[in-house]
Amino acid sequence: MSKYVLQGGRKLRGELAVHGAKNAALPLLAATILGAGESVLHGCPHLSDVDAAIRILDYLGCGARREGDTVIVDTLNLTHFDVPEELMREMRSSIVFLGAIVSRLGKTRLSFPGGCEIGTRPIDLHLMALRALGLQIKDEHGYLDCSVDGRLKGAPVTFSFPSVGATENTMLAAVMAEGVTTITNAAREPEIIDLAQFLNKCGARISGAGEGTIVIEGVERLHGAEHTVIPDRIAATTYLCGGAVTQGDILLTNVVPAQLASVLTVFEQAGCDVRVRENAVRLLAPKRLRAVDAIRTMPYPGFPTDAQAPIMAMLTLAEGSSMFVENIFESRYKHVPELIRLGANIKTEGRVAIVEGVPKLTSAKVSATDLRGGAALVVAGLAAEGETQVDGLRHIDRGYDGLEENLIKLGAAIRRK
Ligand code: UD1
Repeated sequence: MSKYVLQGGRKLRGELAVHGAKNAALPLLAATILGAGESVLHGCPHLSDVDAAIRILDYLGCGARREGDTVIVDTLNLTHFDVPEELMREMRSSIVFLGAIVSRLGKTRLSFPGGCEIGTRPIDLHLMALRALGLQIKDEHGYLDCSVDGRLKGAPVTFSFPSVGATENTMLAAVMAEGVTTITNAAREPEIIDLAQFLNKCGARISGAGEGTIVIEGVERLHGAEHTVIPDRIAATTYLCGGAVTQGDILLTNVVPAQLASVLTVFEQAGCDVRVRENAVRLLAPKRLRAVDAIRTMPYPGFPTDAQAPIMAMLTLAEGSSMFVENIFESRYKHVPELIRLGANIKTEGRVAIVEGVPKLTSAKVSATDLRGGAALVVAGLAAEGETQVDGLRHIDRGYDGLEENLIKLGAAIRRK
């Protein structure tokens, strides 16, 4: 099993272009199914989750091929309407293929995605919305058998919580439904806007993406389109954390600063000098970081749950005490015992974590148990004195393209063993 070996204490310095967003690329790849033709997606990161989505497309009969960061998908002839269990299991967000396949074919059969490392991942909101559009869904023996008589029908859909995945699935199902769908309390994440922009390029009529209410006028058919995936705001946050814990000075390009607003304010409160340009962010770290009063994870534009772990790793080294409240996922503190092994002082009680800053972290052997928790351990390892080893890299590889190459470029001592 591969692991990272880090020699902590090297200042990160220099410039780095951030890769495309995993959470945008996955629904976009699913959305190519709707176009019944060739779509070209630029800026698709090299990640195991993206590979898993490409394997699903291949299974369905689409010719998906990669040319560097570009993925070209031809969805003219689909040969399958189901997704086998082993492919569904590779990636929890494969559920987004449900809306895409029924939109195009009117039926699908796929396995229930089940839970994952950060807690139970229910899909009740996805199923409620798709049923509202007329999809018949039988949930039997861990499989979802879905079909519709004729076309899906546009309908009002109101979410009790603005779920990202459920909003995406509803958009995918509604774009070729008969009539108008209105999604109330829709997720407002930038990845939702990116999906809407791609679908509109394919001929869809979606308005309001990025706001609480999305209106979708169904059209009869879509065509393929060319699109560039938005930059990954969580990867960007992780590199900024690396700069912050090493008293570094880094310039990230290929970022959209407005999409990072809720995390940039935390870096500023922690004492970093953050300079924003049109598509770039420069961070100059202070000698010692300061604690931040309270960080509450929220749906966008609030502080993202995916940034909680790396930012917590950063604040383990701040002067004073910082509080986290995790409002999105129930067990998202699995990195805490590992950070404690590196010398951090953190106490958790349910959804709350209190981080008492320490002047230094010390090296240890630690395990990544989920994607962002793993990234947090790398951030801590960049600062910890001595040699830190992080195993469980299969989790980190789901979301960071070229992590060690990028960190080495910025001056870190890290290798994969
Ligand atoms: C997406 C992101 C993930 C991020 C999360 C929250 C992708 C591929 N993943 O996940 O990185 O952490 O948004 O920003 O884009 N919920 C229900 N019922 C449902 C659906 C969700 O109760 O049917 C709950 C979840 O358990 C969770 C909350 O809603 O507590 C947020 O989940 P959701 O926004 O759906 O996250 P994902 O789309 O799974």
